[in-house]
Amino acid sequence: MAEQLSVPRHIAIVMDGNGRWASKRYMPRIAGHKQGVDALKRIVSACPSRNIEILTVFAFSSENWSRPVEEVSALMDILAMALSREVPKLKRDGVRLRFVGAREGLSERTKAGLEQAEAATADNSGLSLNVCFNYGGRWDIASAAARLATAGTPITEASLSSALSMAFCADPDLLIRTGNEMRLSNFLLWQSAYSELYFSDLLWPDFDEAALDAVLLAYASRERRFGKTSDQVSGNSAATT
Ligand code: FPP
Repeated sequence: MAEQLSVPRHIAIVMDGNGRWASKRYMPRIAGHKQGVDALKRIVSACPSRNIEILTVFAFSSENWSRPVEEVSALMDILAMALSREVPKLKRDGVRLRFVGAREGLSERTKAGLEQAEAATADNSGLSLNVCFNYGGRWDIASAAARLATAGTPITEASLSSALSMAFCADPDLLIRTGNEMRLSNFLLWQSAYSELYFSDLLWPDFDEAALDAVLLAYASRERRFGKTSDQVSGNSAATT
């Protein structure tokens, strides 16, 4: 019988390298972001057949507001366009779309787009797709702590965890960053405590199903110990005593 490879239930991705992909082709950065949407579509379609249940992507960080105003505005337009084109298909494919991040600071048009997309897919029970938009890990932790403090709730690991914006789902098993950069950039700081990290030197628009499969193969060979010893994890009782 073929050996069952361990599959991450939840994958999180920092989709980095759109700008460099475009610059290498003497194209405007925005062209890279547009190709980035195509890469995202490929990976969303690939997840169910690989038994991945939750996909969380970093689409716009709290820090991305400091990019040139034309790029910020183009990213907002790309989001609006992607939603109007893709939500009907996501709905048909059973994908449940959620946006994670601060709504304050977004235009009324953007907020309405996010709300409509979430409502349209709210009854779906297939792949959970979380798009982190106007999101930062520090924002998430600080706002959760502030809410608990206002409510007079003691701040513990459990209470803070359940006040975070991703409390509705399990933590990521695997966090991938493309674009040959090795940092988290304020993404899922709390939730990635025990995630396996994988850094790919592919630029995000070049990331495809084969690249995903290569990462999944690497993940299957990792041993997740969650602070325990290797013997404890493998159930070698002689060594755990
Ligand atoms: C990082 O690449 C990418 C982003 C800041 C935007 C990610 C957005 C997409 C993949 C498109 C999907 C977006 C929406 C809104 C659904 P970078 O621009 O930092 O690339 P660089 O490091 O090469 O400059």
